[in-house]
Amino acid sequence: MIIFEKVTKKFPLGNLALDNISFEITNNEFVFFVGPSGAGKTTILKLILREYLPTEGSITIDGWEISSKNFNQTVTLRRKIGMIFQDFKILNDKTVFENVSLSLMLTNTAFSKIKKEVEEALKLVGLDGKEKVFPQQLSAGELQRVAIARAIIGEREILLADEPTGNLDPKTSWEIMKIFKKLEGKRTIIIATHNTDIVNSLQKRVIVLKEGRLIKDLKKGGYEI
Ligand SMILES: Nc1ncnc2c1ncn2[C@@H]1O[C@H](COP(=O)(O)OP(=O)(O)OP(=O)(O)O)[C@@H](O)[C@H]1O
Ligand SMILES: [Mg+2]
Repeated sequence: MIIFEKVTKKFPLGNLALDNISFEITNNEFVFFVGPSGAGKTTILKLILREYLPTEGSITIDGWEISSKNFNQTVTLRRKIGMIFQDFKILNDKTVFENVSLSLMLTNTAFSKIKKEVEEALKLVGLDGKEKVFPQQLSAGELQRVAIARAIIGEREILLADEPTGNLDPKTSWEIMKIFKKLEGKRTIIIATHNTDIVNSLQKRVIVLKEGRLIKDLKKGGYEI
């Protein structure tokens, strides 16, 4: 459960990125954050990751008040969360296997378990057998599949995606969304996007932001600004 209670985020130069935002996201919910550029979508994702602390208000994840200055479980918090970016952030000098397994390699998980998890994740995203391939040999859609595989291994409970289809053509965007749909109900999925087609046709919960304010929270919504 993710709870934002009266969260305001002001940046040092005075930019008011979020203005008194409150919402709750239950476990395994599927939510879109939409809104024009500068609305505050990325700021919300970064607050969940505890890359930022709010200026006012509180953020609680699974009972942990992560907005507290005294919160000291940031590493454990981030192990719960998988992150997917618009520009994939795949390491070019590492194979698909290395990219996907990296975070688990840094824990003391047995290699046999890592190998099994990577294989399962690659199968889920439709890249089975591509373990040894280098990123230069992959298309943009395939790179985003690698990024999703990387974000789901390690039994992560929360998946955050920031414009995951922003660099992809419409057909590839749909293929990527199908992967998120496959994961639906298995973990909390939070997607920030400008993609009106996808939001309108999936009819999931949509939280609409505008200039840092939450202007709509639709249970099964479409996108209109
Ligand atoms: N690190 C920062 N320092 C100063 N201002 C920031 C910082 N990060 C974001 N902002 C400001 O906060 C506001 C919200 O930005 P944010 O990146 O959350 O918007 P967004 O909805 O993700 O936009 P986009 O659709 O363009 O990605 C903007 O006015 C932005 O300039
Ligand atoms: Mg953004």
